[in-house]
Amino acid sequence: MNRSLFESTRAGALEMSNRVVMAPLTRNRAPGAQPTALMAQYYAQRASAGLIVTEATAISHQAQGYADVPGIWSDAQVQGWRGVTDAVHAAGGRIVVQLWHVGRISHVDLQPGGAAPVAPSAVRANGKTVLIGADGVAQFVDVSEPRALRADELPGIVADYAHAARQAMAAGFDGVEIHGANGYLLDQFLKTGANQRTDAFGGSMANRMRFPLQVVQAVCEAVGAERVGIRLSPNTPANDIVDADPQPLFEALLKALAPLGLAYLHLIEGSTGGPRDLPDRPFDFWRLRDVYQAAGGKAAWMVNNGYTPELAQQALAQGADLICFGRSFISNPDLVHRLKVGAPLAKANRATFYGGGAEGYTDYPAWQG
Ligand SMILES: Cc1cc2nc3c(=O)[nH]c(=O)nc-3n(C[C@H](O)[C@H](O)[C@H](O)COP(=O)(O)O)c2cc1C
Repeated sequence: MNRSLFESTRAGALEMSNRVVMAPLTRNRAPGAQPTALMAQYYAQRASAGLIVTEATAISHQAQGYADVPGIWSDAQVQGWRGVTDAVHAAGGRIVVQLWHVGRISHVDLQPGGAAPVAPSAVRANGKTVLIGADGVAQFVDVSEPRALRADELPGIVADYAHAARQAMAAGFDGVEIHGANGYLLDQFLKTGANQRTDAFGGSMANRMRFPLQVVQAVCEAVGAERVGIRLSPNTPANDIVDADPQPLFEALLKALAPLGLAYLHLIEGSTGGPRDLPDRPFDFWRLRDVYQAAGGKAAWMVNNGYTPELAQQALAQGADLICFGRSFISNPDLVHRLKVGAPLAKANRATFYGGGAEGYTDYPAWQG
């Protein structure tokens, strides 16, 4: 296929000026879960992306698992996000919000009333989350022991997703991305390593898919499927997640998603931010795409993880529609321009990824060449 990264395209209702997508990137700069003017500046600087996916954004207080990450459940948060979407649109960009429930990847200090985080099963992850210390510095701490959700609590969480999706429309977003990846709540329900339930939401593949599919359905009903994408990471080990047999699980999931008319499917290939090929967790992503399309699925196929310009070109030739870049967007606000002219890419400073202010956030310059 003779596709270019720099041609305009569309995914459902999302019109994009190019095929380059800015990945969701948590930056922990939203004190009190409230989006700020600095965030608006940061996203507007990156508006030349065909599409921006915001940092993961909590759908409720219970959904939170990290210090100073934004939410979208309250009207004040919607007001804050309105500043972001207005700034991005004024700069000619498109932006969707990533809807997030962390499930067991949380800490009692971040939960309502200091309660235990919730999860499909009471299985603690061997993982870390971020708290901000009294000195204002981000620190990594072990996640807390979760409690298993009762089945009668699940409709309330589905409703929280739908509410957050409607809030996103009120905030001026072009759409929403459901965060189904990286070992958070929906991924925990999908995969055997975190889901040991014996009710209708655990056990068989169909049962493990039930809650995630209810969420997708509810979000589509809330805002229209043509404005909804979903992010999945079939074989990542991120946040201590594993499934005994991910290939048939994700093929079954995508067959179920095929008739819904989603805008895009967003696949993290391999270990998030790490190796793309995992010998102990093999996964055939092109086969997954073929299964989806054979089932009638028409959503744009978005790929992520360790993409270089060369790899991006290969993926486009193989039929990917959208290429999603993460870390390079942190340090290259004008990434699209740099890719176009072959300019060198600035390296991101890991020390300023999580928490802090403008340093390492809005102060990366555009290419001066
Ligand atoms: C600082 C940082 C924050 C991230 N936050 C999120 C997030 O909020 N949601 C998400 O789905 N992935 C998140 N990721 C993963 C990235 O979206 C992406 O999958 C990963 O960086 C691999 O892409 P890359 O090789 O282009 O950087 C984060 C990664 C980094 C480095």
